[in-house]
Amino acid sequence: MRVIIRKTYEEISVEAAALVRSRIEKKPNLVLGLATGSSPLGLYKNLIDMNRKKLLSFKKVRTFNLDEYYGLKGDHPQSYRYFMDANLFNHIDIDRTRTMVPDGTAKNWEEFCLWYEEQIKKAGGIDLQVLGIGSDGHIGFNEPGSSLASRTRLIALDAQTIEDNSRFFEDRNQVPRFAITMGVGTILEAKEIILIANGKKKAGVVAQAIEGPVTSLVSASALQMHPKVTYFLDKEAASELKRIDYYKLVEEAEGSLGKEIF
Ligand code: GLP
Repeated sequence: MRVIIRKTYEEISVEAAALVRSRIEKKPNLVLGLATGSSPLGLYKNLIDMNRKKLLSFKKVRTFNLDEYYGLKGDHPQSYRYFMDANLFNHIDIDRTRTMVPDGTAKNWEEFCLWYEEQIKKAGGIDLQVLGIGSDGHIGFNEPGSSLASRTRLIALDAQTIEDNSRFFEDRNQVPRFAITMGVGTILEAKEIILIANGKKKAGVVAQAIEGPVTSLVSASALQMHPKVTYFLDKEAASELKRIDYYKLVEEAEGSLGKEIF
């Protein structure tokens, strides 16, 4: 586990983008798992910038998004398909047919979820998964209590999540009650994972996820069982961590070795 802590959100966004860039440079046909929410927006801005400056190409990259609201069409401004198009895909040289977001209108959602998992497998699995974290510790939409072995499925959203996400809708009643999300087990199969968190509001849950016990009550704590995770945290999101000195020491060691240490 690597924990990168910087003063500002801008700094962690730059560093997260540098990591994503290095992985695409190494493997131009990288299979990238993507997240929505405000946390990865800075990362996406930096990737768009790199693409504009022709420092990085997404032509061969494939993407799979973590989740989608159930009941929203892709052209709904609050759908995650719309979010991804508006905040990343429309601004980079990616082939849109290589971008996958769960279908929030799938009538037979059980069949759809199996199909989505199958597509990930067919693509060779996710090489690098980008994550944010919900204020209740969810990754994707894996609400507290999600099995740590869960797969892509329909999930009922927690009241806290509905509350958190109501700021994007006209009123709380418009927030969908269900979503389709990759499971915790699906996410853990990614070969590498990065998690971005910023702001004081995330400090408690970030500490639980990184330094607390592994529990289905904090889905992100399951990442402790993954061998290759990097957390990008701003100072505020890191403020309740107990082992900051050690994380700094590891970073210094990485500097002197010229290599990432997980
Ligand atoms: C949503 C998404 C998550 C995201 C979370 C946090 O619930 N399903 O993938 O991590 O929100 O959002 P934010 O980054 O805006 O705090």
